[in-house]
Amino acid sequence: MSVPGRHVVLGVSGGIACYKSCTLARRLTEAGATVDVVLTAAAAEFVRPVTFEALTGRPVLTSLWDRGRALAHIDLAKHPDLVILAPATASVLARAAMGMADDLLTTLLLARADRPVLAAPAMNDAMYANPATTANIATLTTRGWHFVGPEIGALAEGPSERPGRMSEPEAIFAAAERLLGHSNSSKWSGKRVVVTAGPTREHLDPVRVITNPSSGRMGYALAEAARARGADVVLVSGPTELAPPAGLPTTHVETTEDMQRALQTLVPNADALIMSAAPADYRPKSREGKKRPRSAGPLTVELEATPDILGSLQRRKGMVVVGFALETGNGLANARAKLQNKALDYVILNDASEPGAGFEVTTNRVTILGRNGTQVDLPLLPKRDVAERILDVVEEAL
Ligand code: CTP
Repeated sequence: MSVPGRHVVLGVSGGIACYKSCTLARRLTEAGATVDVVLTAAAAEFVRPVTFEALTGRPVLTSLWDRGRALAHIDLAKHPDLVILAPATASVLARAAMGMADDLLTTLLLARADRPVLAAPAMNDAMYANPATTANIATLTTRGWHFVGPEIGALAEGPSERPGRMSEPEAIFAAAERLLGHSNSSKWSGKRVVVTAGPTREHLDPVRVITNPSSGRMGYALAEAARARGADVVLVSGPTELAPPAGLPTTHVETTEDMQRALQTLVPNADALIMSAAPADYRPKSREGKKRPRSAGPLTVELEATPDILGSLQRRKGMVVVGFALETGNGLANARAKLQNKALDYVILNDASEPGAGFEVTTNRVTILGRNGTQVDLPLLPKRDVAERILDVVEEAL
């Protein structure tokens, strides 16, 4: 068990989801953790500190100036094993990303930046979709923060088809348990996992390329989630706009053949290969050495197929191989065929024609098909949550 005896700081910021944080505080305490709750002033408007004091059996702090002992309390929380922010509002994420220390909670986050942080965002769906929030989450992810949720569902304003709702306390607890359990008990501990992500690019000439709109988000989320579980992860990424996850070894490649070469070196030592990249399937038969001027008139390009990476790799005995199938119709049949033809343990099917799924979006809806005939249909979820659910399934095969 990863939770008993561990010290957790539960930072609660002001959103209606605060009521769920009470259940989380109780769950962590019952599991044997020492839980110090820090409330922002707004959170204390939603739930009185005394509620958390009763649930955790420990004093709760709400301000830097609380009864003159808040600074001492930060000291007490010097080495928490984990800081959980639930709910993490748009405001607290923005202030943390900026490195502000304008209340007790953000002061603690700034002062204890070496401690792992698990944030459960909760906000109105428009605030979550705002590029400022996206950028703040990206910044904090780069600094090593872990995120759980948000989910799609009812918000204070009514039902929503877009993410914003805080994950349920049990899901946050499970994510915390995983982070705290990194140690030797994790099935992923010490496992060498290679994850591919993003598109590849094939040049027609020095300035023109054939590529696809893959953002790389699904692969990056998988790499980070596998690392959070204790795996030794290497990410092989095609060109994307994403910042490489801090501290995670990343090999950058451009063409499908480059990706194949990188994997030929890495895969012989791997315990698992998660092939979520969307390598270009075609490349020009020949590449022009100079930019062809448009004034030269119409252009006909002959394309040839790129190498089938999965089909060409020497696999280590017992290695778990996960492939992706991005389809635009007849998905289940095509994915089942890929499972067979590419000798995969799992294939993750997503339908690019479905809203909210596939390329360029932060959410995905996938079906996981297993070699032994299993089928798991997941709802529309943020890509990080999809990654966790995929790893839950893959874990059984490790
Ligand atoms: N893949 C690969 N090498 C390629 C293209 C794709 O290894 N040159 C991998 C992808 O990373 C994915 C899986 O194969 O995990 C399926 O990719 P997909 O493009 O759906 O399948 P293809 O093999 O290209 O088949 P088709 O285009 O006929 O659907």
